[in-house]
Amino acid sequence: MQIIQCQSKDQAVSKVATILFETICDEKRNVFGLATGRTMEPVYAELVKLMKNSGKDFSNKRFFMLDEYYGLTDNHESSFKFYIKTHFQNPMGFKDDQFFFPPVHLSDAGQQYERDIRAQGGVELQLLGIGQNGHIGFNEPGSEKDSLTRRVDLTPDTIEANREQFVDDIVPVDALSMGIGTILRAKELVLLATGKSKADTIQFLVNNQENSSCPASFLKNHPRFTLVLDPEAASKIN
Ligand code: GLP
Repeated sequence: MQIIQCQSKDQAVSKVATILFETICDEKRNVFGLATGRTMEPVYAELVKLMKNSGKDFSNKRFFMLDEYYGLTDNHESSFKFYIKTHFQNPMGFKDDQFFFPPVHLSDAGQQYERDIRAQGGVELQLLGIGQNGHIGFNEPGSEKDSLTRRVDLTPDTIEANREQFVDDIVPVDALSMGIGTILRAKELVLLATGKSKADTIQFLVNNQENSSCPASFLKNHPRFTLVLDPEAASKIN
């Protein structure tokens, strides 16, 4: 695990946007895993600027979303599909067929998504945020290291932490998420954590070995795992 401690939140965001941009520009690397959440909003804003200013053609790039809620209508304003369209797909003018979304409408959703990822040759770089309870994607504490894409129940803490992102009364209680095993198959992982609400989780992640009470800890032994932190998220690391 490589830890990059930045001097400010802006610097952390910029670091992650630059890593993503440079990887996306690599002609040999065409498939990427994307995350959502408040942490990633400024990352996409910067990534869009970098990509647009480059003048390059990105039409052969493909993007897989990490997770999606159940119980929302297609393209609901609070869905992750809507999020990525708003923050990345539409600003870049990317076509729908460049994006893969967890197929929540299918009965064999998890298996189908795994097949889709394999059919595209696997994910080169997976972008990740982290939940206050150490979840990655929606792999909540207790998730297995070799778990694959599946329907998961959200913990009360996660439901509460994400409540403000819902525009109406529908607050989903389950989701389809890439598994930890799915995430670990990506060739490279980049996790961004910012803000003091993540400080305890980051402290645990950095100071403990693999432990299912903190699903993100399963990433520690991935050969190419980079953890990018702002000063607040890093504030409790010894
Ligand atoms: C959600 C997403 C995660 C994200 C996490 C943190 O639950 N499933 O992929 O990393 O929340 O979100 P935020 O960046 O808003 O703190």
